Amino acid sequence: MASEEQNESTITQAPFGKTPDGREATLYTLTNKNGVTVKITNYGGIVASILAPDKAGNIEDIVLGYDQVYGYIPNDPYFGALIGRFGNRIAKGKFYLDGKEYTLATNNGPNHLHGGPAGFHTVFWDVEELPQQNALKLTYTSQDGEEGYPGTLTTTVVYTLTDDNSLLIAYEATTDKPTPVNLTNHSYFNLSAGKTQDVLSHVATIDADRYTVVDDSFIPTGELRPVADGPMDFTSPKVIGTEIEDVEGNGYDHNYVINDYDGSLKKIASVYEPTSGRVLEVESTLPGVQFYTGNFLNGSLTGKGGQVYIQRAGFCLETQDFPDAPNQPSFPNTILRPGEIYKATTVYSFSTREK
Ligand code: BGC
Repeated sequence: MASEEQNESTITQAPFGKTPDGREATLYTLTNKNGVTVKITNYGGIVASILAPDKAGNIEDIVLGYDQVYGYIPNDPYFGALIGRFGNRIAKGKFYLDGKEYTLATNNGPNHLHGGPAGFHTVFWDVEELPQQNALKLTYTSQDGEEGYPGTLTTTVVYTLTDDNSLLIAYEATTDKPTPVNLTNHSYFNLSAGKTQDVLSHVATIDADRYTVVDDSFIPTGELRPVADGPMDFTSPKVIGTEIEDVEGNGYDHNYVINDYDGSLKKIASVYEPTSGRVLEVESTLPGVQFYTGNFLNGSLTGKGGQVYIQRAGFCLETQDFPDAPNQPSFPNTILRPGEIYKATTVYSFSTREK
């Protein structure tokens, strides 16, 4: 129980049910001295719950997901999951690297999405508890050829819950052959903890003057278009629902190009929910962020506590490299080579304000 007496951070484990092949999943609970709690399972490295206070001090769950691991199979929306090797899309599941063509598993029309059907969101990660840091270190070794990718890729993801109510996600990967890498986390937030059934009244800010324009299968055309003053513009705080119907396509599902990207950790976005007063701030070292408003949710999934996930029940801020970068020479490089270390850090911070 969260109370003022709790001044220790803790890590505990509990069974989280079985996958259809009979493997037991474990749910790890990180709690900090303020009673903020993050629950993570070794299946898919999924963030299953984030319990954070509203402005009155009520600690409630602000991410979409399920009570048991079987809810996550299949996890078509990628609720809370670690995504790899390559987040977002690779056109037609093909790319050339050092003169050779590679063919990946496709799972989104003609395209490869979020690492493929058996991507990192579907695997069991090894978990090491790091009680000193109030952290979990997840490790997964992806074999040469997995989902069509070259090289053995070893990935570690450290989830740390800090005493200033931040969830820090530190990604690292190494390879024995050149391979594309673009790791992210696919948490869906609803800062009202489900009291507003969708996130249209949340107020978002994204530090990006441009976004990557996509075709009708969500593949970038290569153009970086100014957000100008139109519906895509979140350079100053805007209620998500205000112009969503004017967005090309089905709502927000776009990669924003972070301003003044230099690889350092800096604030890239924030979201405020007026009724709860909750604020989410996002910092990242990465050049892009996919702002996705859960457009493909349609009320067919029932999650934690019987909550029905209607369209736009949650939003994602998936920090990332640019979609389809292996096929887009003008985009920042996403090829990891032997001897190099892929490193990225993203921090989600939870606070409140009165107005
Ligand atoms: C993509 C969406 C996709 C969703 C899956 C997002 O990252 O951009 O197009 O439908 O993931 O839940």
